Amino acid sequence: MPIPLSLYIHWPWCLKKCPYCDFNSYAIDSVSDVEAPYIEAILCSLEEQLEWVQNREIHSVFIGGGTPSLISDKGIGEILSGISRKLVLEAEAEITLEANPGTFDKRRFRSYKDLGITRLSVGIQSFNDEFLRRLGRVHDARMALKTATAAAEIFDNFNLDLMFGLPGQSLLEAENDCLKAISFSPTHLSCYQLTLEPNTYFAKYPPKGIPGTDLLFEMSQGIARITESCQMRHYEVSAYAKPGFQCEHNLNYWQYGDYLALGPGAHGKVTLDDKLILRFENFKSPISWLETIKTKTSGLSQKRHVPKEDIPFEFMLDALRLRKGVPVEFWKERTGLPLNTIKSAWEKLLAQGLVEPSTNRLCTTEKGWSFLNEVLMEFLP
Ligand SMILES: C[S@@+](CC[C@H](N)C(=O)[O-])C[C@H]1O[C@@H](n2cnc3c(N)ncnc32)[C@H](O)[C@@H]1O
Ligand code: SF4
Repeated sequence: MPIPLSLYIHWPWCLKKCPYCDFNSYAIDSVSDVEAPYIEAILCSLEEQLEWVQNREIHSVFIGGGTPSLISDKGIGEILSGISRKLVLEAEAEITLEANPGTFDKRRFRSYKDLGITRLSVGIQSFNDEFLRRLGRVHDARMALKTATAAAEIFDNFNLDLMFGLPGQSLLEAENDCLKAISFSPTHLSCYQLTLEPNTYFAKYPPKGIPGTDLLFEMSQGIARITESCQMRHYEVSAYAKPGFQCEHNLNYWQYGDYLALGPGAHGKVTLDDKLILRFENFKSPISWLETIKTKTSGLSQKRHVPKEDIPFEFMLDALRLRKGVPVEFWKERTGLPLNTIKSAWEKLLAQGLVEPSTNRLCTTEKGWSFLNEVLMEFLP
C-alpha cells in the first residue's frame, strides 16, 4: 500500500496576533495586496514539490493558519483549481479551511463550500465574552455564536476549536463552553488546554489565575463526559469526533503519513523510494518566502533526511496520541525498519502496563495514554 499523501497550505496572516499564539502568524491591516502574490507563490511552490507525489492521489488538503478565512472566495477558488490542475485528489478527499469568527461572512462561507471546501474548522476558543477578552481574541461571544450557527447550517462536516484552563476559569465555566459547543452538533470538537508557549506575550507576562493540575484534570474529565453523552469519541489527546468524522488530515499526520507543505514556515514529510524519510521546511518569514519563490522559484529553506535512530520517537510521538494507536504493519510500511528496533522499549512498557499486549496494534493502555510523556521517553534515541 502506498503511504497516503496529504497537502498542507499555510496562510500566515491574521487580523491581530493573539497573546498566547506561537503559530507562524502575523497581524495585517489589509490582505488585498498580499492575496494575489501569495496564491501565485503557492502554486509555483507546488511545482517544485511535484517530484515527491510519486503517482499518488492526494488524501486530504488543509488550509490552515493564521486565519485563512481572510482569503476571498475568489482566492480560495484559484487555489483549489490550481491544485486540481497539478494533482489528482482522491474521490472523497477532505478539504478543510480554518476560520476565525472575527472574519465571519456567511455569504463567503457558502461560496467556500460551493468551491469545494468540505470541512470548516472554526477557532471559537470560548463562548464567554470575559474569557475571549482575557485571551485577546478579536471577536466576542455573539460572533462566536453566529459563526458556529452558520458553520452548522452550511457544512455537513465542521469542527469547533475550544480552549480550556483559561485564566480564572472554573470547572462549570469550562463545561458550559463545551455544552454550548455540542449544542451545534459539530461532527468534530478540538479541546486544547491553554499552554504558555515560549516567545509569546503570555510567556513573558503570564496571566493570573491559570488553573492548577487538579482543576485541569477535572475539566478534561468534564469534557470527556459531555462529549461521550453525544456519541463523540475521544480519539486523540485533544480531539473528539462523531463516528466517521475523525479529521482525515490530522489522522494522516498521526499515522506517520506523508504530506506536502506550501506557505511560509510550513513543514512537510515525504518517504522516498528507498524508504529514506525527507523532512523539509519553507522560509518562515512571509516576505522572504514570497521573495525567494519569486527570484529562485524555491520556497524551501531546509531539507534533511531523518536519521534512522530518530524514527522510533518521531513515529510514536504521533501514533500513540491516538487512543487506538495504529495497525502494527504501519511500523514497517512507513518507517522501513524492522519491528525489532522497538522490541526492548515495547517489552519494558508492556511489563509496566502502559501499552496494550495486542499483536496487531501499537497502542497504549488507558494508563499509558494518561502518562504519554513517560511512555514516549522510552523511544528517545
Ligand atoms: C491555527 S489556530 C486556528 C484558527 C484561527 N487562527 C483561530 O485562532 O481562530 C489553531 C487552534 O490552536 C489552538 N491554540 C493556539 N494556540 C494555543 C495555545 N497556546 N494553547 C492552547 N491552544 C492553542 C486554538 O484553539 C486555535 O483555534
Ligand atoms: S487568530 Fe489563530 S493563528 Fe492568528 S494569532 Fe490568533 S490563535 Fe494565532
